[in-house]
Amino acid sequence: MEELAQVKEKIKDFILELEDKKSIELFDYLAFGKMLRAKLIFKIAGFNKTSLELSAIIEMIHAASLLHDDVIDEANTRRGQESINSKYDNKTAIMFGDILYSKAFSKLALLNQEIANIVANAVSLLSMGELQDVELSKKFNNSYDLYLEMIYNKTASLIEASAKSAAILAKKNIQNFALYGKNLGLAFQMIDDILDITQDSQTLGKPALLDFVEGKVTVPYLFLWQRLEDKEDKKILENLFKKPLEQKEQTWIKQKMQTSKALVDSINLAKKLGLEAKEAIKDEPNAKDLGEIILAMIDRDF
Ligand code: FPP
Ligand code: MG
Repeated sequence: MEELAQVKEKIKDFILELEDKKSIELFDYLAFGKMLRAKLIFKIAGFNKTSLELSAIIEMIHAASLLHDDVIDEANTRRGQESINSKYDNKTAIMFGDILYSKAFSKLALLNQEIANIVANAVSLLSMGELQDVELSKKFNNSYDLYLEMIYNKTASLIEASAKSAAILAKKNIQNFALYGKNLGLAFQMIDDILDITQDSQTLGKPALLDFVEGKVTVPYLFLWQRLEDKEDKKILENLFKKPLEQKEQTWIKQKMQTSKALVDSINLAKKLGLEAKEAIKDEPNAKDLGEIILAMIDRDF
């Protein structure tokens, strides 16, 4: 069986251990997606019993965090599929998230203590990052540093922890892999933020420019805000924040992002982080393979 299919099987086995009919039913509605974190672990640690368990644990934590995130964001879809909070209700999504999360932790406690510590710490950061995201979305955030801290916590920390833990399993250089995972994670979130602007709503499975409508001032908007020299333009952008956007307003934002080069510079920043990730593991025997993960993530459709 293909490696990622085995991760799904492992997660199903963990859930079956709970002997809970509802959890087994809900498992079928989880949208797993690309399983980037599992892929990363296998590329670093190879495929074996422990790396398979670690991958299942990390993917369960990730899935749990998205169940909660969809409640927080009031999202009706996840990866083009109806989200569990929409199909059932918020209570079901929250509790199934807790079930996945606690089962993953009971398995994590049986692994190496250093790994358990790294992953548990990353989950604290994830939760803090999500809270920062909620706070930052309350008003127009024009601080790049706060944005960066938030995406590190919310997204990069678990990718960093995956790379670090896999390096421990494979007895590789932990620091190099931590840096690789961190930069990969930051680039990944920035690309996600960019795709929200460049992709059409059908491809995204959600309305275009949704981030800004929901109060998320992501990197392209930050760059745009910094570069709008005309005070009137700055005001226009600030006034569009957190409002449903008409077609002509969407066009205004997109045009300004082109002319100010806010968009292309955001893409370049994500690429630069990707290169830094590559640089961190350049002396590894499978550097080429690890570099391909970065490419696959960064060269998603702009
Ligand atoms: C997606 O962000 C959200 C995350 C990557 C992390 C969410 C973390 C938590 C809810 C806390 C952790 C909780 C548990 C139970 C482990 P997004 O809304 O920017 O991305 P999206 O477009 O994919 O929804
Ligand atoms: Mg969300």
